[in-house]
Amino acid sequence: MTLCTFDYHGCNVFVAGGTSGINLGIAHGFAKAGANVAVLSRSQQKVDNAVADLQQYGGKVLGYAADVRDADRLQVVFAEAHRELGFFDVLVSGAAGNFPAAIQTMSSNAFKAVMDIDLLGTFNVLRFSHAYLRKPGACVINISAPQAFLPMEMQSHVCAAKAGVDMLTRTAALEWGPSGIRVNSLVPGPIAGTEGMKRLAPPGKMGADMVAKSVPLRRLGTPEDIAQAAMFVASGAASYINGAILPVDGGWSLGGAAELGRNLLAMVGKQDL
Ligand code: HXC
Ligand code: NAP
Repeated sequence: MTLCTFDYHGCNVFVAGGTSGINLGIAHGFAKAGANVAVLSRSQQKVDNAVADLQQYGGKVLGYAADVRDADRLQVVFAEAHRELGFFDVLVSGAAGNFPAAIQTMSSNAFKAVMDIDLLGTFNVLRFSHAYLRKPGACVINISAPQAFLPMEMQSHVCAAKAGVDMLTRTAALEWGPSGIRVNSLVPGPIAGTEGMKRLAPPGKMGADMVAKSVPLRRLGTPEDIAQAAMFVASGAASYINGAILPVDGGWSLGGAAELGRNLLAMVGKQDL
């Protein structure tokens, strides 16, 4: 299948959590299409590597070491990125944490860690970038997961957090629509080679091949699949799409994704029951 080409020259794109996996793939998509790109994550090493990698396309590239749970730091980062780039045309919020764990054995702090990164982190990213979003015209994309609407064993923390992320998407779409900002969620399916897949479908247990069989399109997704969807949603072609929760998953969340939870239960859950 040929990829679509988009033109983002002159646009500023901020990707929170954009230094690896799916979110870095999104940053690559926009940078390749001509955008100036800023990425943020906790590890200075990952930030430096991502910045060096993204510079190949010729646009401006900025990187910030920051934790989305740290509201004070985010305020400094967004103000600095705005000074360097101008107003943001696209904001992607994709920082997240995940590990399989049962409700009855997971510590409160473990549950809180995922809630704080995924949900509070997304709130912080939206809250403190708002002043720097182009009005009208900006597009916000929150990165959700099938767990947001499909309960999954060993994923109570992620299910609760991502359901919250999708409701943030919808309330922000209501609040910010009048100023010309669109807010949508993308819901990736199982994406090959990512940290999320390593944690939930480790080789030899419920590996990528088994997961691919549970996808109606019979393949794992790629970071490019998600980047293409992000560039579509941010484009003029999607100018009336607001408050949408858009699965980009080959149909996985229609049913096959439930198998992942059952396998996590078999893999790590038995000793916890
Ligand atoms: C049970 C665990 C645990 C595990 C950590 N904890 N790992 N509990 N099982 N495997 C507990 C710790 O013991 C601690 O509780 C609490 O969680 C916080 O741990 P910290 O290490 O202090 O947290 P922190 O440094 O903030 O790291 C957050 C993290 C970490 C989520 C725990 O794994 C991380 O940084 N992940 C980021 C990368 C990632 O997960 N990427 C995948 C995203 S994929 P106590 O009680 O001991 O203090 C995704 C969806 C995939 O989101 C969907 C696929 C279909
Ligand atoms: P990943 O490579 O671990 O990506 C997570 C990114 O967020 C990394 O850049 C990480 O860098 C950063 N991050 C984590 N915690 C952070 C924090 N507290 N503050 C700032 N940045 C933080 O994982 P991925 O699998 O590609 O997942 C990316 C997104 O897609 C997530 O939102 C995930 O929920 C979603 N998703 C993934 C899949 C999948 O198949 N992988 C499926 C559905 C949804 P640092 O470690 O440097 O902070």
